[in-house]
Amino acid sequence: MPLQHLTGRAPFRHLELAVGPGVFVPRPETEQLVEWALARLAGAEGPVVVDLGSGSGAIALSIAHEHPGARVTAVERDPQAVEWTRHNAAQRAAAGDRPVTVLAGDMTDPRLLADLDGAVDLVVSNPPYVPDGARVPREVADHDPPLALWGGPDGLDVVRGLLRTAARLLRPGGALGIEHADQQGDALPALVRGTGDFTDVTDHPDLTGRPRFTTAVRRGGD
Ligand SMILES: C[S@@+](CC[C@H](N)C(=O)[O-])C[C@H]1O[C@@H](n2cnc3c(N)ncnc32)[C@H](O)[C@@H]1O
Repeated sequence: MPLQHLTGRAPFRHLELAVGPGVFVPRPETEQLVEWALARLAGAEGPVVVDLGSGSGAIALSIAHEHPGARVTAVERDPQAVEWTRHNAAQRAAAGDRPVTVLAGDMTDPRLLADLDGAVDLVVSNPPYVPDGARVPREVADHDPPLALWGGPDGLDVVRGLLRTAARLLRPGGALGIEHADQQGDALPALVRGTGDFTDVTDHPDLTGRPRFTTAVRRGGD
């Protein structure tokens, strides 16, 4: 059983989030994706940010906490997980952070957040990306929710829909950051480039030197 399920708490950057059965335990690697996102937002007043697949809310709530003024929406499809997103969002709002909007929805839905089309400064996501059938540690297989893990035959099924949503939501020049498995350091950048919607496609290693997240900029900006 993950330690975080025993304590009911998961540290993530400057926050301590409530976690338990039904929600993905946030991982330290994802803290670096948030670091990149915050650097990208530096100096922006009231940037519009969307976190796709929020789980505990680790990414969305950290951005709201560390970039006060950011207008953050968290999207989560799993009905059980979204209860944890809502719980943690309420706790952070009570602690004084700008409230994060939590939406129960599918990040691949072509109508998702239609009111934000072309108006988003940053889309960030740690989507499910484990290839179906891959071996994962028992602690993961038994305790992280299936919807948080499995991403189809090559692990990138959800990402394909995510890229369509991100291309629609982002303003020209808006930024995209997506975490991936260490075997996807070529495949994910290739997928992003292949859409034709993004420039400056770059892959970033984690602190162990393994490929960990891909960033890009919505075409049409400066
Ligand atoms: C790997 S977990 C990441 C959770 C959190 N962002 C984090 O970094 O700890 C992926 C999350 O995406 C959610 N998810 C999976 N497919 C989704 C979809 N199509 N739309 C929205 N959320 C989805 C899962 O339920 C899960 O909470």
